[in-house]
Amino acid sequence: MENSIKLSEVIGSGKDGGILKEDILNYLEKLTGATLPPSPKAEITPPPPKPKDRTIPIPISQPPVSTSKDRTEPVKGFHGAMVKTMSAALKTPHFGYCDEVDLTELVKLWEELKPTAFARGIKLSFMPFFLKAASLGLLQFPILNASVDENCQNITYKASHNIGIAMDTGQGLIVSNVKNVQICSIFEIDTELNRLQKLGSVGQLSTSDLLGGTFTLPNIGSIGGAAKPVILPPEVVTGALGTIKALPHLNEKGEGCKAQIMNMSWSADHRIIDGATVSRFSNSWKSYLEALAFMLLDLK
Ligand code: COA
Repeated sequence: MENSIKLSEVIGSGKDGGILKEDILNYLEKLTGATLPPSPKAEITPPPPKPKDRTIPIPISQPPVSTSKDRTEPVKGFHGAMVKTMSAALKTPHFGYCDEVDLTELVKLWEELKPTAFARGIKLSFMPFFLKAASLGLLQFPILNASVDENCQNITYKASHNIGIAMDTGQGLIVSNVKNVQICSIFEIDTELNRLQKLGSVGQLSTSDLLGGTFTLPNIGSIGGAAKPVILPPEVVTGALGTIKALPHLNEKGEGCKAQIMNMSWSADHRIIDGATVSRFSNSWKSYLEALAFMLLDLK
């Protein structure tokens, strides 16, 4: 009840399938990186639309009030689970890798395709392109879509590319995933992202939307800045997309031009993935996005 868990979704390991405290704790742990579903009894109201974080924040009508007293509260529920999983995540030796991507061509294409997607009832974002490029890269470097067991003795190469995205919602941070990106079109991925965002904003994602991720690619750049991502075990790679910015750039002829540049970083489990593999994967991901014609060639 404390964490609004539906017992029907928990697999019991006790006698006759009875649910033990341990089962609840395991379930909570699996949800880490995602907020717990709200209590079914709780009234669900969509959060009010947020101002765009990339612009200068609009002053709120009342200035924030400072308090004179300290406040202590227990770390529980989702936060408690996050403490556990993030502490476990940091036992994984992280290999960090950064690069920048020129998205000038993608931004142009996105502008062109937006009205068509809108006419089909879908808001087109950059995310389906990032996810599809990642999936094409994962086909070449399947170790990045693997999982390892707790003592790192077995590696399982996952057949499905279930790519996780973090969503900043009124209920907190939710990580859900788009299943089988390897067989989806850009439009299908976008449709699924729209569905997940819609359900996430009202706290109605199902357990299957939240579990089963094999690779994670959060877009912190839609809020601003760039990030150093943390791996979510048993996954072995997490990326972090930075903000796309119009910047002065030199083209191949050495002439100054305006380009849409995004910083990108990856964290990989260095016990099983070496830096060169991450770099090659990242180069592949980047070239699909910088020269979209190549993505067309490899799309199924
Ligand atoms: N750089 C610059 N602008 C970006 C961007 C980026 N990396 N990503 C998205 N945008 C823009 C979009 O183009 C859109 O602009 P528009 O309204 O003019 O069309 C705007 O930001 C909002 O994007 P959004 O509609 O939210 O769609 P999205 O599919 O790009 O992003 C989410 C979806 C769920 C990833 C995003 O809403 C979100 O929650 N991001 C935060 C994730 C987070 O908290 N990460 C932390 C991980 S620990």
